[in-house]
Amino acid sequence: MGLKTAAQIEQMRPAGRFVASVLTSLREVAAPGMTLKDLDEHAHAMIRDAGARSVYLGYHPEFGAAPYPGVLCTSINDAALHGLPSDQVLAPGDLVSIDFAAEVDGWVADSAISFQLPPTTPDAQRLIAVTSAALDAAIAAARVGGRMGDISSAIGQVGRDAGYGINADFGGHGVGRTMHEDPHVPNLGRRRSGQRLKAGLVIAIEPWFMAGGDGYVIDPDGWTIRSADGSLTAHVEHTVALTDTGPVVLTARD
Ligand code: MF3
Ligand code: CO
Repeated sequence: MGLKTAAQIEQMRPAGRFVASVLTSLREVAAPGMTLKDLDEHAHAMIRDAGARSVYLGYHPEFGAAPYPGVLCTSINDAALHGLPSDQVLAPGDLVSIDFAAEVDGWVADSAISFQLPPTTPDAQRLIAVTSAALDAAIAAARVGGRMGDISSAIGQVGRDAGYGINADFGGHGVGRTMHEDPHVPNLGRRRSGQRLKAGLVIAIEPWFMAGGDGYVIDPDGWTIRSADGSLTAHVEHTVALTDTGPVVLTARD
């Protein structure tokens, strides 16, 4: 794993702060009647104003039918991950998950939020709260001297205790000069297993849960990942630096 020095972790802070500010702003502007493309354009304008660089636009892993067309992933209700910023119109009560990564000063940060447009419903609020609690538990487990499985099991335990569907095919990852680096950070695992956590490790931790079962389906576009049973999904993510004095959340929002 590519470990960062304390100085490099400091250099990553502007990227983390920028990504956090865009997500905060998107949450404020998101409203029924807007399209997912409108959200994407809002973020794109913020990227241009800040002199930042999108790491999504044009990204083309083998599973995508075409290069990624936006600067955000916008996943609504049953869509969990990699939702394309389409002409879909936001509706009251939608559970909105937005995933955003960008490069500032040559460093990348990656973060995601989930929230519900009013009127809120208990089921969606609970799903969002539990997914956030899983991220908090995982960050608390991101301690030098522990193991990767401590992080993975923290996520899995919070999700399973709440009765939610979890699929470990997609999870977290190292972050640094590029968005996706080693190591993989699975959303299921066993405590005290896996690689040792070292100071200087910078990882995106990203639990995503489904209100129903563990299965998912992928849209014909090759990108959008949905719960197989159509149940609601939520996804939250932070970029976290492991230091000798504890985890530092680089994408923390005020
Ligand atoms: N940011 C996502 C993640 O958390 C990946 C987005 S892939 C892209 O790993 F193609 F949309 F950029
Ligand atoms: Co990520």
